[in-house]
Amino acid sequence: MNKKFTIKSFQEAKEKKQPISMLTSYDYSMAKILDESGVDSLLVGDSLGMVFQGNNSTISVTLNDMIYHAKAVNRGAKRALVVVDMPFMSYHVSVEEAVRNAGRLMKEGGAEAVKLEGGTEYAETIRQIVRAQIPVMGHIGMTPQSVHMFGGFTVQGKSLTQAQKILDDAKALEKAGVFAIVLECVPELLTKLISETVNIPIIGIGAGKYCDGQVLVVNDMLGMFSDFAPKFVKQFTHLSSHIEKAVKTYIDEMNSGSFPLQEHTFTIDEEVINKLTK
Ligand code: KIV
Repeated sequence: MNKKFTIKSFQEAKEKKQPISMLTSYDYSMAKILDESGVDSLLVGDSLGMVFQGNNSTISVTLNDMIYHAKAVNRGAKRALVVVDMPFMSYHVSVEEAVRNAGRLMKEGGAEAVKLEGGTEYAETIRQIVRAQIPVMGHIGMTPQSVHMFGGFTVQGKSLTQAQKILDDAKALEKAGVFAIVLECVPELLTKLISETVNIPIIGIGAGKYCDGQVLVVNDMLGMFSDFAPKFVKQFTHLSSHIEKAVKTYIDEMNSGSFPLQEHTFTIDEEVINKLTK
């Protein structure tokens, strides 16, 4: 196993200009594959509300959902840093509740860091979570929990007002103590300016190439989720068609009697069978 990736590794990677790879993960088996493939960080994203639970947004995801999935991912991750999303309404009501909920993700879910959406308005909340020794990753730009405020999953930061707000948010988050920022769905020249302005790594998703790393939803990049296809997603394979092919073969082999074969079957002494009372 290569050296464990930690929050310090995020900073070192930025300084050495080594791109940081991050993917979402929601279960043990996938986490193990991604970890063994060398991804630097696994995000237990609240996108699980869409790609795992089948909802049309992330709004309904609960803290208990996140703890459940975080535990599974944590068992599969050895090298990658496990970051867990704070779901909608788990940090919005009060700073105290936010610290307590971040603590639950760490104590019960095994999170090595938490991520929360929002900028300047959450700076104090972030400061207090970091004070409790819980590393925080920020998330600005198109923040999916605000889908109803934005009126859809739309690109942010095109107008001067929006772009200024996102730049100010990045600076406020750095000051509040986040170790990295996810920047989602913004124009690439804004990403470039932000990456050059702050000293912490910027992890992009739909934010172009001027980032210190990239994150994607694993179901999107493996071609397993077709309900919604954002422009920024590249399907690196089409896993759903491989799965369909395998499942059709399974059904065909069952129908033709070529599965299961002797090699898939357990035996018993015939004497035992004969002695059974019918
Ligand atoms: O929930 C998630 O998967 C995320 C990524 C889109 C960054 O926050």
